[in-house]
Amino acid sequence: MAYKLGIIGAGKIGEAIVQGVLAKGLASRKEIILSVRSEKHRAELESRMGIRTVQDNRILVAESENILIAVKPKMIEGILAETADLFGPGRLIVSTAAGVPLEFIESRLPPGTPVIRSMPNMAVAIGQGMTALSPGKAVKTQALEWVASIFRACGRAIILEEEHMDAVTGLSGSGPAYVYIIIESLADGGVKLGLPRDIATELAAQTVLGAASNVLITGEHPAKLKDQVTTPAGVTIDGLLELEAGGLRVTLIKAVVKAAERSRQLMHKGK
Ligand SMILES: NC(=O)c1ccc[n+]([C@@H]2O[C@H](COP(=O)([O-])OP(=O)(O)OC[C@H]3O[C@@H](n4cnc5c(N)ncnc54)[C@H](OP(=O)(O)O)[C@@H]3O)[C@@H](O)[C@H]2O)c1
Repeated sequence: MAYKLGIIGAGKIGEAIVQGVLAKGLASRKEIILSVRSEKHRAELESRMGIRTVQDNRILVAESENILIAVKPKMIEGILAETADLFGPGRLIVSTAAGVPLEFIESRLPPGTPVIRSMPNMAVAIGQGMTALSPGKAVKTQALEWVASIFRACGRAIILEEEHMDAVTGLSGSGPAYVYIIIESLADGGVKLGLPRDIATELAAQTVLGAASNVLITGEHPAKLKDQVTTPAGVTIDGLLELEAGGLRVTLIKAVVKAAERSRQLMHKGK
């Protein structure tokens, strides 16, 4: 086959993954093929990326060894119907679509087609993504490891049972949006106290980055790290009291649960 990796739907997530793959040398520009829906996007992408880009998904699937499908969930069914006969045990397909179960994809492709369901987040675009991967029945260890290496080129990747994928979608898939609101609100607090907006935003963002890195690097429970920065009768405990009174904790828990519920319903609502 002419291409090592074909990406159906080179939009925000698809393009970010290509950048990670190129940066880590997992495939060269000549070993990748992309597809999008519109001619305008196709021409723009091909000239900007220097990667062959087509509108015909059948060409892409026929010529690619591994296929990543990164279109909106409602587009998946039509694309599988259009290309199903080209799949089989020798062609791996990885889906990034929120809420689309492995069984939905497997049942539309020839028996034995290896399928992996993934849930990345937008931070893959800057090499700081968080991706969960669930392999279907026909996926071999070596193929799963290769796909994991692609997502590790764009941040962190874990392998997880599919039953957890809606929870992952509600947490790390949607999570960047929650954290942007937290950063914006912390910065608003600084602005309220007279800090210039740009400085307040830098203080807030670096604080979130530092705290997140500390959790990952030390492996400590966040509650223990919180205790370490909370001096008895000090300043921070007063701030924490306000957070508890405002229900931040419960609100974040509910946000994750609600988004996971929505992920579970996506296929039924056809969005
Ligand atoms: N964005 C996120 O934070 C995020 C996080 C996790 C998972 N996901 C999942 O990743 C998938 C893609 O999301 P996205 O945000 O990257 O969407 P996006 O930016 O809208 O990209 C989708 C791409 O699919 C292309 N497309 C549409 N129909 C097509 C077809 N029939 N054949 C080939 N290409 C086609 C579009 O082409 P045109 O540009 O020409 O229309 C577009 O470039 C979704 O299923 C989403 O659930 C997204």
